[in-house]
Parts: sequence; structure tokens; C-alpha cells
Amino acid sequence: MEYRRCGASGLQLSRLALGLWHNFGKDADPLRCKSMLRYAFEQGITHFDLANNYGPPPGSAEINFGRILKEEFASHRDEMIITTKAGHEMWPGPYGDGASRKSLMSSLDQSLKRMQLDYVDIFYSHRYDAQTPIEETMQALSDIVRQGKALYVGISKYPPEQAQKAFELLKANHTPCLIYQDRYNMLVRKPEEQHLDLVAKYGIGFIAFSPLAQGQLTDKYLHGIPEDSRAAKNGFLTEEQVSRNIDTIKGLQAIAIQRGQTLAEMALAWLLKDDRVNSVIIGVSSKEQVADNLKALENTSFSEEELQKINQLLS
Ligand SMILES: NC(=O)c1ccc[n+]([C@@H]2O[C@H](COP(=O)([O-])OP(=O)(O)OC[C@H]3O[C@@H](n4cnc5c(N)ncnc54)[C@H](OP(=O)(O)O)[C@@H]3O)[C@@H](O)[C@H]2O)c1
Repeated sequence: MEYRRCGASGLQLSRLALGLWHNFGKDADPLRCKSMLRYAFEQGITHFDLANNYGPPPGSAEINFGRILKEEFASHRDEMIITTKAGHEMWPGPYGDGASRKSLMSSLDQSLKRMQLDYVDIFYSHRYDAQTPIEETMQALSDIVRQGKALYVGISKYPPEQAQKAFELLKANHTPCLIYQDRYNMLVRKPEEQHLDLVAKYGIGFIAFSPLAQGQLTDKYLHGIPEDSRAAKNGFLTEEQVSRNIDTIKGLQAIAIQRGQTLAEMALAWLLKDDRVNSVIIGVSSKEQVADNLKALENTSFSEEELQKINQLLS
């Protein structure tokens, strides 16, 4: 596994992180969850990405992760980067959503209890909340670090102008933003417009989520929608989205074959070729998918010709 310093910080992050948004909730097979986490860790993935609302139901991914952590990794806590977030709706009423000081502080306390941890390595404001003054949110993040409940802080899904303001405020508070997290993959290239340059300018790491466009950038949907796939199972990825993108996906698959990679490997390598991208957070439903995705690290360079062909397909 390759590790890279996150932005200008001293913290090294594995280039692949494992996210627990799907497939680690209450109904997930505990043995399968355990084997995916164990395998990932054995292969050098040290970074595990959670949020208060991951499940379903919300909170159950943190509960399961905490249990597995205790049973399997108790003596390895210092070799792991564990993150959580707050900012999407988590409990009813005015304090279970958004980025107020009350919501962030209460939510983190709940997350720590669910995961049976004293602290997380990174705590994120999960999304920009226009109803809360950004000064209040950033002060709460800074205070969370001072309380020792998180070692570092990050933000996710902030528009560029607000992200810049957040970076300035955190810097002034002497609790610099470590990392910025956003959706980035071959089908969604918005971070290329402003965020990637912005984080590089501030010495902040960029981490991409949904790097496989929730499974679309794999060989999974080439011949229809498999029954056990995310597109068949829940509303986060729809069959309509897949059918809209299928021609592009098939074109990309042909380029991947020429490179001697699977489409998943090429899609991850394509993100990691950019030095501004510190790491990517993969989601998986099996140990085999972790293994396939790890192979992406074997070749993350692209010829000009390959990049041109890819850009033509994506434009
Ligand atoms: N900050 C935020 O707001 C935010 C939002 C979303 C996600 N995230 C983070 O990012 C993580 C990853 O997001 P994601 O799950 O959407 O990532 P993703 O890697 O784009 O998609 C994961 C899905 O792709 C399929 N897959 C993965 N590897 C495969 C392979 N080698 N071959 C075939 N199919 C493969 C699996 O689908 P099947 O389940 O169908 O097998 C898997 O569940 C989340 O867990 C979370 O930690 C953060």
C-alpha cells in the first residue's frame, strides 16, 4: 500500500480508504462485514470512513464498526484512521440536522458511544449548512479538536466560496482543515472546476468519494442490472442513471481492457494519477471487490493518447 501525506500535514493516509455508507448496516451479514474490514486492513488500508447516518438504519454502521473494532482490531487502534461526520438528518427535531454547534457536538458524542471510541481521527462537517453562520460551525470543529474528541477536522460538500471561508476560519483558530471530501469520478468531474486547485493552494488534502460512481464504473452493469446490485436494491443509484451512462461505461471498459485493467481499476487509477488527489474512498459489498480495487494501485499512469480518448468519451 502507498501512503501519502495529507496536504501539508504530517498525517499519512492510505491511497485507498474504505467507506461504510452501504453494506455495513443492521441487516448486513456480520461475518461478511468482518471479512471485508479484516482483508482491507491486512492489505494496508488504514483509513475507514463513517458518518453518523450510515446504515440503514442511521447509526447502525457505526455500531457494527465499533463491535468489529473491539473484537478484531482492539490492539490496532493506533494504526487506524477512523472518521465520522455530522450534517445530514440524523434524529427528529431541530438539532438532529445541519451544522450548528449543538448538532455537531451532540452528534459526535453519539458517534463515539456507538463506536465505543474515545476519539475519532477526523471529524467532518458533512455538508454546508446555509442556515448556520459558518463561523459557528468552524468554531465548533475547532473546539472539538481542543476537547480531544477528534485529532483533525475536515469538511465535505462545501461550495468553493464557503470552503475557502471555512479554511481561513479554521486556520485562524489554529485547527487547520486537514482534508476536503467530495464526489469525484469519471462521470462527475465538478471538483476539477475549482475545489482541486483551492485545496492545493491551502495545503489541504482532497479525498474523493463514490470514485466508482456507486458501481457504474465497473463491469457490474455491462449486461443489465444484477439483482444484488446497488441499482436494484435502493434509491441512491437508479436504473435510469445506469442506462443514461451505459454507452460511456462501455466505451471506458474498452479502454480499460487495452490498458490491461478492469474498468474499476482504471476508474480508480484515473483519479489517483492527479497529485492533488490524496486518496479515494471506495465502497464494497465483497472482499473480492476490495482485492480488485487494490490492483488499481499497480498502474496509475496514463499516456496522453489514453487521456485524450477518455476525455473524448466523457465530454
Ligand atoms: N461525504 C459524503 O457526503 C459522502 C457521500 C457518499 C459516500 N461517501 C463515502 O464514500 C464511500 C464510498 O462511496 P460509494 O460506496 O458510493 O463508492 P463507490 O466505490 O463509487 O461504489 C461502491 C459500490 O461499487 C460496487 N463496486 C465496488 N468495487 C467493485 C468492483 N471491483 N467490481 C464491481 N463492483 C464494485 C459495489 O456495488 P454493489 O454494492 O452493487 O456490489 C459497491 O457497493 C462511502 O462508503 C462513504 O464513506 C461520502
